[in-house]
Amino acid sequence: MELNLRDKRVLVTGGDGGLGSAMAEAFAAEGARVAINYRGEPDIAERMAADFKAVGADALAVEADVTDADGIAAMFGRLDEAWGGIDVLLNNAGIDGKAGKGWEIAVEDWTRVIDVNLKGAFLCAREALRRMVKQRAGVIVSTSSVHELIAWSGYSAYTASKAGLAMLTKTLAQEAAPHGVRVLAIAPGAIRTPINRSVWSEPEGMRDLLTKIPLGRIGEPEDVANMALVLASDLAAYVTGTTIFVDGGMTDYPEFAHGG
Ligand code: NAI
Ligand code: BGC
Repeated sequence: MELNLRDKRVLVTGGDGGLGSAMAEAFAAEGARVAINYRGEPDIAERMAADFKAVGADALAVEADVTDADGIAAMFGRLDEAWGGIDVLLNNAGIDGKAGKGWEIAVEDWTRVIDVNLKGAFLCAREALRRMVKQRAGVIVSTSSVHELIAWSGYSAYTASKAGLAMLTKTLAQEAAPHGVRVLAIAPGAIRTPINRSVWSEPEGMRDLLTKIPLGRIGEPEDVANMALVLASDLAAYVTGTTIFVDGGMTDYPEFAHGG
């Protein structure tokens, strides 16, 4: 089946992380032009861009902290200069943040998670939509989480940010649909990346995790990247304003497989 993503101009935020790098690789393998956003150290993003170029795909490493509106505007300006705009935004940068019950967590720690995961996604979507609405085409896919639905003790900012991202997605989709632009979210379950290494790298953590996943395995970054490819392509031309769960059944209440 043809995805027809060749030469599409794609920006992946957090493109040097676990899920972001898998998405960047997947789009580059389809012949898309991929801008890899990073914050801080450029090494990984630049190496990825060089690797993509070596196999004939166009690529850029672009710095910006997604909480910084001016930095984001400058990053989109670089895409304008290099490629004349953007076709696909993968709004993926995110942090779990510091764990702490609601009555323990420092307000700066709580707010930082909202700033990166929700405000950051909004700021990038805003720049992308300014361009996509004008060209009457484009797709935004944000990385939400099963925790847009499932409460997670110790992570109230994270769950609130992802639930907020779900409604941000639906509202922007409603606004953008008449202009030919689709806005979606992917909600991964537990995927093997640095964000949750402390869980899956320990036998006890992995054992507990597997009790929560009906399909019986941890997700791999490619499981999420494959869905991003499909959603960004015209195979999903009739899909907008919703979250697609890629979670091995985590949101299917495995506790209810027996009894009830
Ligand atoms: P990761 O820690 O490997 O990647 C996170 C990426 O976000 C890194 O590239 C990091 O540099 C970037 N980032 C963080 N703050 C940033 C900022 N202020 N500006 C720009 N970039 C920033 O973790 P992973 O798993 O790849 O996370 C990616 C997304 O997937 C996050 O939004 C996370 O919430 C979400 N997610 C991950 C799941 C998992 O099980 N791995 C499950 C559900 C959602
Ligand atoms: C979190 C991971 C966690 C997964 C499943 C994700 O949103 O970022 O740390 O393993 O949800 O709970």
